[in-house]
Amino acid sequence: MKQPIRIGALISGGGSNLQAIINACTDGRIDGQVVIVGADNPGARGIEKARQHGIATFVVDYGAIIDGVRTNPEKLPLPADFNFDELLTKQALLSSRSDLTKTRAFLMSRVAAEAQLLHAVRPYALDLLVLAGFMRNLSPYFIDRVNTDSDRPRIMNIHPSLLPAFGGTDGYGDTFRYGCKVGGCTVHFIDYGEDTGPIIGQRAFPVLPGDSIDSIRKKGLQLEWELYPECIQLFAAGRLKLVKKTYELGGGRTMERKVVEISFI
Ligand code: GRF
Repeated sequence: MKQPIRIGALISGGGSNLQAIINACTDGRIDGQVVIVGADNPGARGIEKARQHGIATFVVDYGAIIDGVRTNPEKLPLPADFNFDELLTKQALLSSRSDLTKTRAFLMSRVAAEAQLLHAVRPYALDLLVLAGFMRNLSPYFIDRVNTDSDRPRIMNIHPSLLPAFGGTDGYGDTFRYGCKVGGCTVHFIDYGEDTGPIIGQRAFPVLPGDSIDSIRKKGLQLEWELYPECIQLFAAGRLKLVKKTYELGGGRTMERKVVEISFI
């Protein structure tokens, strides 16, 4: 019999997905427990939800750290193992054509914040970290220190679109403005890019005449609250496996992609 998993969550806002996950842990749909919740800003309302359930919380104030890079970069609390060149090679958040000074400032601020995140979650010996409306990209510095085995990713995210369409911050808005006839949400593992990691589960809904961004968001969130706990339970049950695939594309070209396979045990 598998042990219940220890789950950490990172949020930025209201935490409705966090609430759905906590509910699913409480009523047995997830064989696990949320043991720590962190936010990237002191105003994240979801922190209060966690406290009401007696869950430990913390805040890493990304805004203050990012301001610090602009105003007082030499005072930035960078960890001793910050290695800019290594991160530059690995990261896929900024294009290689981006201005190097800006890229350095971006990575410095993220790593300074991520060192604090790691410090806060480390004592909780997490099996899984879920991003639940966490509006920050994680750099390879953080990802590598959580995913100590690259074949067993341990950071999940929920995204408000049917990936790979509409990565970024406004999936439901993009779905509406593009005139899509179907919208949806995706749960995936995090990799070094933005919303590019291996897909675990997806749910779709029809976009009907008369729908607005608000009604699309409402339909999408309802599905998010079902999908995220289901995907977390697949992880808890040990049913998710990362497999490296190589596809022949014709003309001698090949494509490689790591995909998630779900076993039926
Ligand atoms: C959700 O739509 C999620 O997909 C996106 O941000 C929203 C967060 O909602 N990443 P909540 O904070 O869980 O209520």
